[in-house]
Amino acid sequence: MIIMARSSAMNETINTIIKNCDEKGAISKAAVILRKGGLVAFPTETVYGLGADALNPEASNKIYTAKGRPSDNPLIVHIADTYAVYKLASHVPKKAVMLMEAFWPGPLTIILPKKDIVPSETTGGLDTVAIRMPSHPAALDMIRQSQLYIAAPSANISGRPSPTTAGHVISDMKGRIDMILDGGAVGIGIESTIVDMTGDVPIILRPGFITKAMLENIVGAVTVDKGLTDSIADIKPKAPGMKYTHYAPKGELTIVEISNDTESDDNCTDEHSRKNHSSAASYITRLSVAKKINDLISEKKQQGFKTAVIASAENAHLYNCENILIAGEATNGETIAAKLYGILRECDDIGADYIYSEAFNHGKLGNAIMNRLLKAAGQRVIKV
Ligand code: TXA
Ligand code: MG
Repeated sequence: MIIMARSSAMNETINTIIKNCDEKGAISKAAVILRKGGLVAFPTETVYGLGADALNPEASNKIYTAKGRPSDNPLIVHIADTYAVYKLASHVPKKAVMLMEAFWPGPLTIILPKKDIVPSETTGGLDTVAIRMPSHPAALDMIRQSQLYIAAPSANISGRPSPTTAGHVISDMKGRIDMILDGGAVGIGIESTIVDMTGDVPIILRPGFITKAMLENIVGAVTVDKGLTDSIADIKPKAPGMKYTHYAPKGELTIVEISNDTESDDNCTDEHSRKNHSSAASYITRLSVAKKINDLISEKKQQGFKTAVIASAENAHLYNCENILIAGEATNGETIAAKLYGILRECDDIGADYIYSEAFNHGKLGNAIMNRLLKAAGQRVIKV
């Protein structure tokens, strides 16, 4: 049975300290709180994390309570030095070392068999542990000063979009955790790539900034978890967190895309996408998507609902909607990734009942962006 973590502490309000990362003494204060078993939200290069001492089961449990997270959903352990991997994992295969050397510090999480010192509270009962070395200087400094390994999921209430600014963390976590370190807006905006390194062939459990092609460049063949690609087949994703509805705004989000759109492709260079996108065929495609979205909006408006559109910069002018949220240029995956979660939160701020989004599946980040957008949409897609 999955227990949604909850305790009497949920009803108590904690006095949350909020400090800028650069403020003198802020990081050492965070380190002291972590050493006492407290909770600190901190910036990473991907999204904000909600940190606690990974080897302290009570501290890990507090994370589940603060987030309202199901207890079977394991946490990622954040480290600041490579040697920590050997303290946490019972076996570190050569390919894992190659990936660590290539991408750490950075947005890559590696799953390895765990050592006994990692409590099952941190790994959601699994005998493996997820490990990542973030590249954000404040995160590294905090981990080093605490002299701990830091368990940290994204610092959002379970099911909401991951936080990409301290403001997002404040709105979800103020009063629930001990401290928030404000490091401004994060750089990448979607969570790390997760790779299972427990078998011979690495398996991507969650796509992210480090793509399949980048991983294959270092270690050869890499596969993708079937639970990610087969949405129709009832295959459970290997990363427990990937089975939950996630990143979702409160309104109903639907993706509208062209039925014969090219699949997103790691090898698709930005130049290639740009050429594709600027073709005449592409223009007709954009018009058909816009027409469908405009029809849906006018139907919902007539029924008295509030609507919003998530659009690329090039297409924004095609929509007839009071709330047009621009994710960035369709070919600029980096901007779209950085803005996506903020936009999903904006949909809540607006109070949108129905949200329609274009598909953003071009370029090397297309896979990762569409993975998050499809989850936020509960896999609701209309093809035109
Ligand atoms: O970029 C990130 O990874 C951010 C920042 C804060 O580091 N963290 C993050 O954590 O996204 P979280 O808890 O929101 O997502 C962790 C994912 C979940 O889907 C979880 O199920 C999976 O990692 N996971 C953790 N440990 C695992 C394990 N041992 N085996 C398989 N999946 C695991
Ligand atoms: Mg999360």
